[in-house]
Amino acid sequence: MAIATGNAAGSMAGGMAQRYYRRFTSVERVLHALLMLTFVGCALSGLPLLFSEKPWAATLAQILGGYQGAGLIHRIGAAVMIVVFVTHVVMVFSKAIAGGRLMSILWGPDSMTPQPQDIVDIWRNFKWFIGRGPKPQFDRWTYWEKFDYWAVFWGMFIIGGSGLLLWFPVFFSKFLPGWMFNIAALVHGEEALLAVGFIFTFHFFNGHVRPTKFPMDTVVFTGRISEHELKEERAVQYERMMREGTLEASLAPPPTEEAKWFGWVVGGTALCLGILAIVLIVRSFF
Ligand code: HEM
Repeated sequence: MAIATGNAAGSMAGGMAQRYYRRFTSVERVLHALLMLTFVGCALSGLPLLFSEKPWAATLAQILGGYQGAGLIHRIGAAVMIVVFVTHVVMVFSKAIAGGRLMSILWGPDSMTPQPQDIVDIWRNFKWFIGRGPKPQFDRWTYWEKFDYWAVFWGMFIIGGSGLLLWFPVFFSKFLPGWMFNIAALVHGEEALLAVGFIFTFHFFNGHVRPTKFPMDTVVFTGRISEHELKEERAVQYERMMREGTLEASLAPPPTEEAKWFGWVVGGTALCLGILAIVLIVRSFF
């Protein structure tokens, strides 16, 4: 659950000001920012290779310092992305082990593992979409946030594994037959297309275009969620934390202007580059 930090008094100055609660720790925010940066970097430096016969590919590669420069950016991005992924996995396990709650990785409101409640939530949300039910309320993680998380998680093994084969063919050829490298090249390119297509449409939709989030949800940059948003969107979490007595402990100061601007600049830039990538890919098929 959210961790108690910061000076909560600032969020309640004057008694009427909006209260904020901590949703992401600073390490989680840094990891997300690095994942964004490296994903966009790998996408923009990898696409010129995948679509090398298209005129835009040469232009994009030129902007990135030629095909050699793009290859270097791709490898630096890939190495940082792998470090970010391993750090995340180590953090998840060490936090659970330190708290003596290893099962919390698989079960409970803080777990990213899909649970029966997610099926219920999907059903209720679809009923709400078609005007056949009230707007559902969620706990800490919604089913679409879990979906986005696992799309990246399993994608890391496929794209990272195949990418490492392409990166170090001499080393891997000591254990693997030659045809594996053909498969790796095919899988890497196709999985990259799938990942780019998913992240730059569904994930961006969730963060930018949902009615209450337009034009941008900055919570992953500021780490704080307002009491209003928490009650409106995650009433199950709000009520559970009230019951458990953990709500007050996760009060946090309101997000600073700098944190909000950082979110707008970084999130806005990633959004523009992502849309550009989608436009270039779609254009390439017609
Ligand atoms: C995470 C670890 C990753 C590693 C180790 C990796 C490694 C590589 C390597 C070594 C190449 C060949 C580059 C060259 O010959 O200069 C490559 C190509 C490529 N990568 Fe990655 N990459 C990774 C992640 C990604 C991601 C996240 C994307 C997209 C979002 C991506 C998209 C591509 C594309 C589109 C190509 C061109 C494939 C082709 O020519 O068929 N890569 N990658």
